[in-house]
Amino acid sequence: MICDIKIYGSNELRKVSKPIVEITDEIKEILNNLVETMQNVKGVGLAAPQIGIDKRMFVIDVGDGNVRKVINPKIIELSDEIESNEEGCLSIPGVYKPVKRAKYIKIEYTDVNGKLVVEEATELLARAFQHEYDHLEAILFVDRVSPVAKRMIAKNYNF
Ligand code: CO
Repeated sequence: MICDIKIYGSNELRKVSKPIVEITDEIKEILNNLVETMQNVKGVGLAAPQIGIDKRMFVIDVGDGNVRKVINPKIIELSDEIESNEEGCLSIPGVYKPVKRAKYIKIEYTDVNGKLVVEEATELLARAFQHEYDHLEAILFVDRVSPVAKRMIAKNYNF
């Protein structure tokens, strides 16, 4: 099912998500909905709070043939080395700004089959993991740009 994506200014985007206790059919359905909704708009990632669900899960498709369904992610390691690159968010349509992120990430999560996965990533995947993880902590990429840029963006969204 394709879901409505919550837009910048929605309360749902500012709630810290709760851990998933059990991978029920409902959780699996939400993950399928996240994938369908993301692919419908050709997004790289989508987190549960973006469709109004405050649970710690997101999906990522960086075009490497592995559509990741990520449950209860934990960041194990972030490099000190930083990279700045243009970023966008399906909840903030039309806005693209350079955001500084760790160049390398090591992340642990549970997949949809309940298996623990540890992944190391750089480049777009590392950025996507950090961006989507932020959503679970109620952080948006515009929180990570300069205060002036953030004010300009907020103005365009009328608040
Ligand atoms: Co986003």
